Amino acid sequence: FMRIPFIAGNWKMNLSVDEAVQFLQDIKGKLPDPKVTETCIAASPLFLESMLKESAGSSLVIAAENCFYEDEGAYTGETSPKALHEMGVTHVIIGHSERRKYFNETDDIINKKVHAAFRNNLTPIICCDETMSRRESTNRISWVVSQVTNALKSITSEQAKTIIIAYEPSWAIGSGKTATTDEAEEGCYLIRQTVADLYSDEVANQVRVLYGGSVNDENADDILAQRDIDGVLAGGASLKADSFLKLANFLQ
Ligand code: G3H
Repeated sequence: FMRIPFIAGNWKMNLSVDEAVQFLQDIKGKLPDPKVTETCIAASPLFLESMLKESAGSSLVIAAENCFYEDEGAYTGETSPKALHEMGVTHVIIGHSERRKYFNETDDIINKKVHAAFRNNLTPIICCDETMSRRESTNRISWVVSQVTNALKSITSEQAKTIIIAYEPSWAIGSGKTATTDEAEEGCYLIRQTVADLYSDEVANQVRVLYGGSVNDENADDILAQRDIDGVLAGGASLKADSFLKLANFLQ
């Protein structure tokens, strides 16, 4: 199987609507051929409508950074996955470490959100976290394995083939401390093996696994050269058009 690399930026709670639109103008015509590399920006739901308008006709995938697990109802302040789909959003990040940490998202909530994404034709970009204390503990392998296993509970193999999973050791997020390429590859390999154990090699070979955590245009080429790493989920390095373009065009 040829897995098309996926280069994603996650803006988190940064930029303004005007800056978001300016960014899209700046990258216009400069993205790689989507048959070679797919590119994606995940942004605040406040920006999505303007971004979809500005990027119409471009290959850039516009993603939400989160959604709720119900489609509609009395859930004040939540983002409906149904509304995301209706407005033309195709992908959604689920279970980012910052959601787990600041909003107490559990594996169970994340699994419900993965189901909500599929129910609404959204491709989930599932994040798998690893804190330093977990990393240094003896059960670190089972920690990563259980996050993937729990996120994919009752997800069919047809659905599983289409997902994107990001290995994001939180000790390397926004810290300037990147995992070594070996550590990044090891985490991504572990995720792929878990998918193989849950489903099959065929499914595992189609799932795209990304690395995230202080990725920049200096370390990205080593990271992207790893066998089980199909792309990156970049935070800080995705906020400026020129650095995002460098990441996006590495594999050209
Ligand atoms: O979603 C992105 C990750 O949290 C990485 O963020 O590249 O700023 O370390 P960072």
